[in-house]
Parts: sequence; C-alpha cells; structure tokens
Amino acid sequence: MLPGYAVTPLVDAPALARRWSLGQVFVKDESSRFGLPSFKALGVSYALARLLAERADQPISTSWPQLLSQAATTDVTLVTATDGNHGRALAHFAAMLNLRCEVVVPAVMSEAAAAAIAAEGADVTRIDGSYDDAVAAAAATDSVAGRVLVQDTSWPGYEVIPGWIVEGYQTMLAETAEQLRAQGRAEPDLVAVPVGVGSLAQAVVAYYRDRQRQVSTSVLSCEPDSAACVLASLLAGEPRSVATAFTNMAGLNCGTPTSLGWPVLSGGLDAAITVTDEEATRAVDELARFGVGAGASGAAALAGVEAALTGPEASSRRAALGLDPSSVVVLLNTEGPSGAGGLA
Ligand SMILES: Cc1ncc(COP(=O)(O)O)c(C=O)c1O
Repeated sequence: MLPGYAVTPLVDAPALARRWSLGQVFVKDESSRFGLPSFKALGVSYALARLLAERADQPISTSWPQLLSQAATTDVTLVTATDGNHGRALAHFAAMLNLRCEVVVPAVMSEAAAAAIAAEGADVTRIDGSYDDAVAAAAATDSVAGRVLVQDTSWPGYEVIPGWIVEGYQTMLAETAEQLRAQGRAEPDLVAVPVGVGSLAQAVVAYYRDRQRQVSTSVLSCEPDSAACVLASLLAGEPRSVATAFTNMAGLNCGTPTSLGWPVLSGGLDAAITVTDEEATRAVDELARFGVGAGASGAAALAGVEAALTGPEASSRRAALGLDPSSVVVLLNTEGPSGAGGLA
C-alpha cells in the first residue's frame, strides 16, 4: 500500500437529483488524493511503480520499501509538462522516492500553481507558450540519457507510460463501484468527466465499456469552451488540435487529444459538451453547498450535466443519455480548491 492512500468520498447530492429529476446524484470527490488537491497522483503513482519495476526487472510492487529500494538503484531524472496538477503529483512522488524531477509549465500558469510544484522539490521551467508547447519542450528532452518523460498525454511513438497513467486512474472507478455497492446500488447510469487531453475520460470509457462488467453506463465529456479539443475532434471525425488561451479551468486547458485515448473516446463517449468559465465558477459554488471543495476544472463535470439536462433541448438529451427519474449519476470532482484551477 502506498503511503497516504485512502479511498476518496462519494458524496450524495440530493438537491441535484431533485433539480435534474434523477434518482440519485453522487460526487466522487478527488479534492484530496494522497494529500494532494487532485486525482492526478493516481496515475503518477501507478506509472512510477510500473517504471521502477521494469527498470529493476521485477514484477510491479505496491510495497513502499520495495519501491524505495528500486528507486535507490535507478539513476533517473523524471521530466514532464503540466498545466498544474499532474506536474505537482509527479514532483511529489519523485521527492518521496528521492528522484530528480523537472517540470515544464506554460506561460498562462498562475504563479501560485508554479510555486506549488516547485515547493514539492521539482525544477520548474516556464516557457513562453501554451500547454501543447510545454509538452513538446518536455518531450524534446526525453531522448537525453538518464531522463524519462512521465507524461499524462500521448502521441504516436509515446504511449506506454501514458497507458500506465490511464490504468492508475481507474482506481477511482473501482472505488466508486465499491462505494455504490455498499449502498445497494449497481454501476451508475451516467458518469460526467472533466476533460483536458482526454486521458481520464479514456480511463472512464475503457472501464465501463469493459465487456466483463456488462454495464450500460453513459459517459459525458465536459470541456472548457475555449479548449475543447475532444469535441472538435469528435465533430471532425479525427484528432484535431485547437488554439488555447486562458480559462479558469486551468487543468483542462489542453489543445490536443491524447493519441492513445482517441479511438476509445471516439468509439465510446456518449456525449460531449463545453462549459464556460462562468458556468464552472457557479458549479464550484454549488459543490461548496454540499460540502465539496472544488476547483473550476473539477466542477466542470457538474457544469456539464447542468448544461446538458437543463434548457430547451433537455428532454431529448436526457433520452439520448438514457436517463430517467430512477437514474444514478456520478460527477467526478477531479480537484480541490487549491488545485491548478483553484489557484488562479
Ligand atoms: C483537475 C483536473 N481535472 C481533469 C483533468 C483532465 O484530465 P485529462 O487531461 O486526462 O483529460 C485534469 C488534467 O490535468 C485536471 O487537472
């Protein structure tokens, strides 16, 4: 068991169920995961365990002393780009494992978010460019001896470590299933996911489309209207990049879908929606009323369902998502108020 691991809460939000005429609405609250304010450590910790095991030529272990001893014999610098949360999570685990860590961040990142990464012990380099530019800059150093890129997005030729990160994210869904079962509930009818490059959404779609699970859970992708690369790609029928600028949903401010996730998302997402910064801010306030602390990126799931299930086209959207007054909906709140999107 990794130090700091604990199941995150599944919070009942009856007022949302009433407003949206659903059976039950739950918020899977990732505002604190391994003591960090986002879900990202789930991917990083699993990927590092896989990486260290592979380098030591041993089977994967979740024993912390074993991971420490594998790390002690690995002379490696971990490198990544981030719009906030992933870089902080990597820096955090790198420090715990006594590994060097370098994090490249985009121009729009708030000082506070960059400082939070540096405070974990990483070397932070700010570039004069977007998140996509930061990823390209970090990737360019991957071939240098002794450096390993641990990136939460993928492109042709760089898909192994991002695949491990996606596997790590699925812990969130396994916990949710267990928590619903404990309440006598089956898997949810709809899961709403905040989307940046789409790796988390890939994990969600892959989890619920796994034939062995035999569930008919719908998955809704929720992106900022100013960085909707997954929606643009779905509309085009092929991966597309979009230009990005500022959004208060900093963790979702990504211009290019992950290559590994694209086939999963294009074949498996049930719907995709965009939300504005104002809608995300309102959703942060709404979550606070249920005692859930959220940053704007995390609250995008609530904002997305609100946009989908209210307004003139609400009834056709409900039908398309297979929702009725007995349905169970899960909103993934992927960050707390001090996550990358909460610090701006
Ligand atoms: C808080 C938060 N939610 C959701 C996401 C979306 O994850 P992905 O980029 O895999 O779509 C991110 C990504 O950085 C994030 O920081």
